[in-house]
Amino acid sequence: MSETINFKIDGQSVSVPKGTTVMQAAYQMKIKIPHFCWHPGLSVAGVCRFCLVKVEGRPKLEIACNLQASEGMEILTDTPEVKEAHKWALEFHLVNHPLDCPICDQAGECGLQNYYMEVGKYQSQMERPKVLKPKALDVGGDLVLDTERCILCSRCVRFEKEVTKSEALGIFDRGDHAIIGTYPGKKIEHKYTTNLVDICPVGAFTSKDFRFKQRVWFLKDKQSVCPGCSTGCSIDLFAKEQTGTYYRIKPREGESNGYWMCDTGRGMYRHLNIETRQRFHYVSKNGQKIDIDQKESLNQLASKIKEVGPEHVSLLVSAQYTNEEYEAFFDFFVGKLGVKKVYQWREPTEKLNDFDGILLRGDRNSNTHGLMATLKKYGVGNQKIGNEFDIAVSSAAKVVIALVPEIPATFPSLQSNLQTLVSLNFVSFWTVNSEIEKIKGAKHVVPVKGFSEKKGSFTNHFGKLGHLTSPFVSVIEGINCVASTTRKLSEYF
Ligand code: SF4
Ligand code: SF4
Ligand code: FES
Repeated sequence: MSETINFKIDGQSVSVPKGTTVMQAAYQMKIKIPHFCWHPGLSVAGVCRFCLVKVEGRPKLEIACNLQASEGMEILTDTPEVKEAHKWALEFHLVNHPLDCPICDQAGECGLQNYYMEVGKYQSQMERPKVLKPKALDVGGDLVLDTERCILCSRCVRFEKEVTKSEALGIFDRGDHAIIGTYPGKKIEHKYTTNLVDICPVGAFTSKDFRFKQRVWFLKDKQSVCPGCSTGCSIDLFAKEQTGTYYRIKPREGESNGYWMCDTGRGMYRHLNIETRQRFHYVSKNGQKIDIDQKESLNQLASKIKEVGPEHVSLLVSAQYTNEEYEAFFDFFVGKLGVKKVYQWREPTEKLNDFDGILLRGDRNSNTHGLMATLKKYGVGNQKIGNEFDIAVSSAAKVVIALVPEIPATFPSLQSNLQTLVSLNFVSFWTVNSEIEKIKGAKHVVPVKGFSEKKGSFTNHFGKLGHLTSPFVSVIEGINCVASTTRKLSEYF
């Protein structure tokens, strides 16, 4: 059993395993110690000298990030001496920092800005001009680098070395001419580049995808789960509620992803915006598309199912919906109506067992394991993961209910698959995205909610549940998730 150390921070007693630093203990206790270079997911560098604390009985202040807790130690984070030291440490970081906050993308969530408001000195002591350095460099991936804004904390260098092991970045030269940059001829070329934007405590790294699009204080963030693959990273989703526009995704500390997420997952907000959404229920009559309301739409579908009978109905189900939606869907169609033909709809080119060694998996569906568990529960379909699209098409049911994959970006064959389905007898497309609008002749289309607009859960690759707990209001008025749509349909039986 590991040895336990008992000590105090600001008078509060704490017990931690031997080897824990004062900074780690304070982080767990939610006691704020100002810092730039320390990050809970990286090694200690101890270079920003900002996290100074007082250790009772010792003459000088010490940095909390590299100070191991010892038995009986008493740490003070808030004395006048400590506060004065923070002011000076911050002042040194600002000596060469440009004053371009008004056009810097990090404004509003910049460590320098925020700490200046908390512990700033407000009166510059400098007479000499600032050292100028290169700005707006395209260093690869999603990244733009402004080297003047850099405070040389080395977080980005350590991320490259320790997390992606790509080592494209370094700190060159010395003194106040020291500069962050890529090695000659190198670019940052892995799938995790936007994490550098997140961990850079200032605005030196910004995201090509997000920069200059929106001031962060206009955005609302809600906790969610990335639907980009079966890892199910914990994320925060950022949208402007007034217009219902989504702008970006950032990783949230979680069991499946630690502190990071991949660049592919960062794009999982795009399909939620109105331009790419299925907005209306419609039916086709004599080649003409007719928009109808939800009541009429579900009434017509119910009549069609009654006309052919459940033995001539089949379900074609993608793995991008929640456990709760599958439960309601199968409970009605299989449990109540007695439909027996159920097929999995998966991307035919997927490499199910691919894994990049960090987070991204070849299974680009958020809920393969939840779907399999529900199929097993209801004793329907193939009990092994596999694409059964062709079998579903050749089995030629008179009515097919298709749960269309939510995210076209993770399903390259979506358009050609939809084209094939449109030629069948009668398919009801339940869909988040509007890909079906690009194809003529769909007989019945039902819009449903995207992952950001509903409560529920996904079961990830490891069998762990990722919860969608705080939905945004849907950008489309009057639509429902698959579970509520199914319940409304059941009222006609
Ligand atoms: S670019 Fe950002 S993360 Fe990298 S050393 Fe500079 S301040 Fe730190
Ligand atoms: S690894 Fe998968 S779940 Fe995580 S961010 Fe990337 S696509 Fe999303
Ligand atoms: S956080 Fe401790 S020296 Fe930077």
